[in-house]
Formats: sequence, structure tokens, C-alpha cells
Amino acid sequence: MKSEDLLIRINETADYIRGCVNGPMPRTAIILGTGLGALVDHIENKQYIPYSEIPNFPVSTVEGHSGNLIIGTLGGKAVMGMQGRFHYYEGYDMKQVTFPVRVMKALGVKTLFVSNAAGGMNPEFQIGEIMIINDHINLFPEHPLRGKNFPELGTRFPDMSEAYSKRLINQALEIAKEKGIRVKQGVYVGTQGPTFETPAEYRYFRRIGGDAVGMSTVPEVIVARHGGMEVFGVSVITDLGVEGIVEVATHEDVQRAAEAAQPRMMEIMRELVSRFEE
Ligand code: HPA
Repeated sequence: MKSEDLLIRINETADYIRGCVNGPMPRTAIILGTGLGALVDHIENKQYIPYSEIPNFPVSTVEGHSGNLIIGTLGGKAVMGMQGRFHYYEGYDMKQVTFPVRVMKALGVKTLFVSNAAGGMNPEFQIGEIMIINDHINLFPEHPLRGKNFPELGTRFPDMSEAYSKRLINQALEIAKEKGIRVKQGVYVGTQGPTFETPAEYRYFRRIGGDAVGMSTVPEVIVARHGGMEVFGVSVITDLGVEGIVEVATHEDVQRAAEAAQPRMMEIMRELVSRFEE
């Protein structure tokens, strides 16, 4: 894709989605991570738009990995949900991985919720716990903003001093307390995968300041911040890379642990959206 085409493609895709949506345009979007797609069950008055029907959306490389854009309401507010995201390890380039976030912005989305399954490195974490992301470390080999910058999309050198909104973190902490949901906070390390970490890599990521590690989220958050969106992110700790207790992690373990934590994560997100002013 020629970089000049990016703006045209974003607008084409946004126009298509606008034409499909029956209700009000959502101001909040939610990207659902591995094992967390069932959150969609809680979105009401749903409309599904398969990714395969959306012009310019990346084509799924994995069979049976088809995704949907969901438009509906959560906590009484219009939301857009991405059931299935595009991972860098699948072979997409960073412009493809982050394209849906560009389109969200063009559609008027102001707030982005991101969720993921992650390996915990903080020795105080347990499997199944929820970590509210308060910062990240970008270790992906390609930067999503590399190349020509379009001022229409954001500034050349975006600030990242508050990638994850303190305001939303504080609200989420209050909600968790009210509902008796135990949450942790921490730094998410984004790596390309698809291998899980060696014990030495977990140790290294812990030493540089990470609390959890995963293979997604960071590119989307960078692009959302570039576009001026407010971001709230949650990791579900699905396995542990804590020194002395690194165990074999499998994709199935990750999915199972994420599914178990899903209702708690859902509760926090629903309550958070319901408190937004429209
Ligand atoms: N490492 C990287 N990605 C992950 C992990 C992990 O331990 N768990 C879930 N996603």
C-alpha cells in the first residue's frame, strides 16, 4: 500500500461502516483479546459486520479465525466491539494491525478500551487476576507510526507520558472496589511473539520494569494516542513467568484462564462505560 493511500482507505472504510450502522455512532470502542470475545454476549441490540465484508480490512490469515465488528449498546451506551484483532505475529504489518483503530477515530470514537491475555511476571500476581494497565514498554520490532506522518491523523512526535488515562484508571479502581473485584495495576510489555518467553526473557522483562507480557495491544494503543483517543487497558493474567515458577504455557491454558476472568473484566468495563457522559 502506498502511504498516500492510507487516508483514502480510512475514509472509504469509515463510510462503509457508517452506512451499515442503524443506531447512533459509538463514541467508545472495545478491542477484545484472546479468550475474551464472549464479552460480546453482553453487548445488546447487536449488529454484526464480518471483517470479510469491510473494505480495506486486513484479510484473516488463519482459518476459523474470522472476526466481526459489533455495534450495539453496553451499560446503556453505544459501543463498537472488535471481536478478534490482528496480531503482528500473524504476518500483518503494523499499518494493517492498527488500521481498525484509524477507522474508529474517523468514525468519531473518543475512548478505546483494550483487553488482552498476558503472562504475569510480578511475583504478587496470580493466574486469573486482572491487571489494569498503567503503562507499557514497546518491544515490537516495527513501530506503527514509522513512515510518512499525516497531520490529519496526529502529530509526528506524539506524547506518551499518559498513554493509559489516569482518569479512567481511577474510575476503574473505584468500580472494582465497589464490586469487590480484586485488581492489580502494572506495566504491559508488548512483544512480537509467537513464542512464549524463555525463563531468561521473563526475567529480563521483569528487570526492565514489566509486570505482564503479551503479543498485542501496544500498537493499537500507540495509534489511538496518536489520534488523541483516551485509552483504558486491561490484561488478564493467564500464566506466570515469575522467577522460580515459570511453567509451560499453552494457548489452551491462556484461553481457559482468560475465559474464567472474562465476567469480572466485563463488569468493570460495563460499569465504566455506563458512567460516561454522552
Ligand atoms: N507471554 C506472551 N504472551 C502471552 C503470555 C505470555 O506468557 N500469556 C498470554 N499471552
